[in-house]
Amino acid sequence: MVAGSVVSNVTGYFGDMMSARIRAILSHNYFHKLLRLPQRYFDSELTGTIISRLNRSITSVSEFLKIFANGFFTTILTVVVVLVVAGLHSPWLALLLMVIYPTFTYLTALTSRKWQVWERAKNEHYDVAGGRFAEAVGGLRVVKAFTTERRELEHFDEHYDETVVLTRRQSTFWHRMDVLRRGALDVVFFFVYVIIFVATAQGTFSIASMVLLIQLVNIAKAPVTSMSFYVDTLQRAITGSNEYFRVMDETDEPLNPVALADGPAVDWSDEDPVIEFDDVDFGYAGDKLVLHDIDLTIRRGERIAFVGESGGGKTTLVNLVLKLYEPTSGEVRVRGQSVVDVPTKALRRQVGVVFQDASLFSGTIRENLLYGDPAADDDALEEAARRANALGFIQRLPDGFDTEIGERGVKLSGGQKQRISVARAMLKNAPILILDEATSALDTKSERLVQEGLEELMAERTSLIIAHRLSTISAVDRIVTLRGGRIDEVGSPEELAQTNGIYAQLLALQASDSAAGRKLLRRFGILR
Ligand SMILES: Nc1ncnc2c1ncn2[C@@H]1O[C@H](COP(=O)(O)OP(=O)(O)O)[C@@H](O)[C@H]1O
Ligand SMILES: [Mg+2]
Repeated sequence: MVAGSVVSNVTGYFGDMMSARIRAILSHNYFHKLLRLPQRYFDSELTGTIISRLNRSITSVSEFLKIFANGFFTTILTVVVVLVVAGLHSPWLALLLMVIYPTFTYLTALTSRKWQVWERAKNEHYDVAGGRFAEAVGGLRVVKAFTTERRELEHFDEHYDETVVLTRRQSTFWHRMDVLRRGALDVVFFFVYVIIFVATAQGTFSIASMVLLIQLVNIAKAPVTSMSFYVDTLQRAITGSNEYFRVMDETDEPLNPVALADGPAVDWSDEDPVIEFDDVDFGYAGDKLVLHDIDLTIRRGERIAFVGESGGGKTTLVNLVLKLYEPTSGEVRVRGQSVVDVPTKALRRQVGVVFQDASLFSGTIRENLLYGDPAADDDALEEAARRANALGFIQRLPDGFDTEIGERGVKLSGGQKQRISVARAMLKNAPILILDEATSALDTKSERLVQEGLEELMAERTSLIIAHRLSTISAVDRIVTLRGGRIDEVGSPEELAQTNGIYAQLLALQASDSAAGRKLLRRFGILR
């Protein structure tokens, strides 16, 4: 027993350490894996579900390790001692015990299999509820504005109620089986005692041996139940981490920056066109194509604008340049290199972006700017902020560059956020620039401020511009119009104004003031 106490505490210490380490390792690997997955994976996953899975698998696995380490070796020690002492007195008794241990464990495992089916169903409910929970909390402004609090809560409760129902079935089954198992075990032990008593009465054992054996059998009973407890926690860990390992089995994005150290230097060419689309077809899912036969060459320093109906594939086109998705067929080349072949890190270093949604992170303005260039010093930050038209308002904030801006920048206005994201792109200082509806979410005054920042940003860079307002693209070198996922026309604003194509029509509509005209403009996302 002393040995047992020592062993259980020593292994208990290692168990704690192991479970803390396993937690760190599992979490690290999960995050590392998520960062390696392609954009496509996240199109159909909820953030909350991703987090809920991580928590469950980590808790169940580390819980198992802890329980296992705390008790398993003591249990083994007890079993060995009991078997040896029993064997010395009565080989039959030892044999009987040796059969009981694995049989009981096996029976537990059998019950567990059915138990797992319910457990998996429950986990699914936890995941769905958790996913929605995180989404609702993230979008609480909308929930409040539409006063859908009750609906969200009911939706959440439905899933949790379902898990209670499932638990009732699961637990009833488990405990019914446990009564049967343990009942059978008690019957077996009853006969063990009978054997001992009868053998003593017949004079095979002395009274002293009988007392010893009875004690021994009592000690032997405990490990039988704890063995099945380990099996149970193990099954729980297996079910709990099921989805975790399914995520780990997903295919990585090829040439992903976390998977790859910097990789070989890419031989960017200055002679080749900056961006080339070579007969590109693309669809997000199945064979439903969003882009067809895209052939386009963008020269160095050129400003090129994309015009087309909302949902026409403009964002998709720039997604291909960033290699967020790979073309279904054809090739996209950046500075002479096929985007499929270059390491993603090197490629994305060539491209600065400003999206419609500023997508800042919690933390200070300084931290957000450093996202563009971690090595930038205060002068560089100030210079970028000044050129992005953001310095004035930043300096008026009580903490200046050290102002905390809240989750996704909620403490700033739309125009302020967007000017910070312009400054962030400025610091990244990439030769190619993608502006996807960068000013679409802003009012006219903020738009003008941001637009001035964008002009600074576009200087000396090859720029791909998707804009909702024709006036902002009247000064570009070329306009590309998209119709039905195909390129319709390519030309300078002056040329396209004459061809009676989409751009010319839009221009005419904007000049006129008819209701039908406004409707069409809105369809093209050009008027709000
Ligand atoms: N992640 C996605 N998964 C599946 N379909 C998408 C995805 N993103 C966009 N689409 C579809 O692709 C088409 C083009 O979308 P998009 O390029 O965003 O249009 P635009 O930017 O011109 O408004 C739309 O029909 C849209 O429904
Ligand atoms: Mg778009």
